[in-house]
Amino acid sequence: MATPRMAAAAPALRTLNEFAADVVVGLSHPGQKELPSKYLYDTVGSGLFDVICTLPEYGLSRAGMRMLERYSGEIIDQVPGPVMVAELGSGSGQQTRWVLEALARRQRVNYYPIDISRSALFRCQQELGQMDMVSIVGFERAYLDGLQEVATRRSGGERLLVLFLGSTIGNFDRFAGDQFLREVRTILQKDDALLLTTDLEKPIPTLIFAYDDPAGVTAAFNKNLLARINRELDGDFDLGHFKHVVCYDESERRIEMHLQSTIWQRVTIRKAGFRFYMREGETIWTESSHKYNPAEVAEMGERAGYKCAGQWFDHEWPLAQNLFFAV
Ligand code: AVJ
Repeated sequence: MATPRMAAAAPALRTLNEFAADVVVGLSHPGQKELPSKYLYDTVGSGLFDVICTLPEYGLSRAGMRMLERYSGEIIDQVPGPVMVAELGSGSGQQTRWVLEALARRQRVNYYPIDISRSALFRCQQELGQMDMVSIVGFERAYLDGLQEVATRRSGGERLLVLFLGSTIGNFDRFAGDQFLREVRTILQKDDALLLTTDLEKPIPTLIFAYDDPAGVTAAFNKNLLARINRELDGDFDLGHFKHVVCYDESERRIEMHLQSTIWQRVTIRKAGFRFYMREGETIWTESSHKYNPAEVAEMGERAGYKCAGQWFDHEWPLAQNLFFAV
């Protein structure tokens, strides 16, 4: 008889405690309740996100993919010499393939995906593990911790290329995004490169549809956060009494995803030793997705200690691939 494979390893206790602590803090906020968006990506959430990327309404990742298919050669030509690659948030690795292929035309490539999600790393390894000339070592770590560790593997004369694709930076508010790029810069050496994807501003209805698709996949992705709390922390969220709500904040220029309570309710999260109440209509803010214009992205990089070496655009779904060098 074949040995059954484990579907997913139980999360380590430390991880679970951190999750519980973050949940309690976010849901105890006196004003707007919130949950950190990084917790959307457990195995179920990562799977649902992959489905989101196939939705006609969500053009972001297809645009990113199309652009890397088209421009990776050009981008990589601007990053000379021996290069090692680190990726923050590997996701499924589909977009990365084009970059690695371009680089593998001139050298052997060491590729280090960094992701807090073991299942994302696993899928990335499956997607890219068979590439000639590419060896992969994944790090199941927070971005900056992982990058620090990857940087110690640099051999003399090697340049680090950091990939931060898919507009994941949009999850940070503008201030925290600046801060994050600065923190990445402190780990880099002069002339190291950063390839950053940023989703650009576009008509509001287009954005609303992208995050509130008629098939309800994004709603399921959002609600899975509560289901995850139920699974891992023994919560009793009744998903039937929450509604996926999306809005665009015009002054912050960001999409916000919320989960809105449709009734007055009490929720208990046993493993966190926590009980709280929600009023009818009250929301839990689960994710922001900031939208940019090209000039501000270049300026953001420049404030953080980089120079912008190029920006490439997709015109079907306005999106920018931005190449920076550490100065
Ligand atoms: C992976 C953070 C770039 O903000 O567009 C997609 C996540 N959330 N649909 C985004 C997401 C809902 C996505 N990022």
